[in-house]
Amino acid sequence: MKNIKGMKVYVEPSYEAMSRVAAQLVGAQVRLYPNSVLGLATGGTPVGMYKELVRMYKEEGLDFSQIITFNLDEYYPLSRESDQSYYYYMTENLFGHVNICKDHIHIPNGEAEDVDLECRNYEKQIQEAGGIDLQVLGIGNNGHIGFNEPDDAFAKTTHRVDLVEETIQANSRFFDSIDQVPKQALSMGIGSIIQAKKIVLLANGAHKAKIIAETIYGDVRPQVPSTILQFHPDVTFILDQEAAAELKKYEK
Ligand code: PGA
Repeated sequence: MKNIKGMKVYVEPSYEAMSRVAAQLVGAQVRLYPNSVLGLATGGTPVGMYKELVRMYKEEGLDFSQIITFNLDEYYPLSRESDQSYYYYMTENLFGHVNICKDHIHIPNGEAEDVDLECRNYEKQIQEAGGIDLQVLGIGNNGHIGFNEPDDAFAKTTHRVDLVEETIQANSRFFDSIDQVPKQALSMGIGSIIQAKKIVLLANGAHKAKIIAETIYGDVRPQVPSTILQFHPDVTFILDQEAAAELKKYEK
């Protein structure tokens, strides 16, 4: 583990190793503080981590019964029954396989009629749960965290976002065609994310190398939302070697 500007950075030899380290960190949180509030991410990156957490539940008795979760985001509009919804993803990858209580699970409602009310309520529920103890993040090639796209200001709280073309393109690999990718999403804000007590960001693959170096070493600015993590007191990056490749350019 390296310490770069106060941020912990793990560089692991493979996707599997990255996923195991991430599951160890999340698993330790669950073991030490069984009633933790976890912030959870979707996308391709954390699939291996969820697989390992399910294994830890089945083989090691990792207990999720008191855990509360808040997911970062959900497409809008999209039914939770759709197999492209993040609700569906979470059921498939984690919730359907561990002993989490259904009413402890929170994911923004992609079918909400009153979006502003849904966003306000989501934020309120996070506060009422006592805030997020550990937030898991992936990262977009453009530095988005959650669905907070590059912008002129950091979004504070849960809100509706217009997905940018690059994100729609990147996520179209999960859909039958690009036209099926929803154009909007409900996402926790950057403010909601950085209020988490601990943050763990995962990234793998050469296509993430540039944004990872920028996130860790670049100027903090809303045009690259992930750079805000430099201001957080407890951030851990867990990378595979490919995603870490451009850090060398900045290392003395
Ligand atoms: P990915 O998405 O894990 O599928 O690369 C990450 C993100 O867009 O946040």
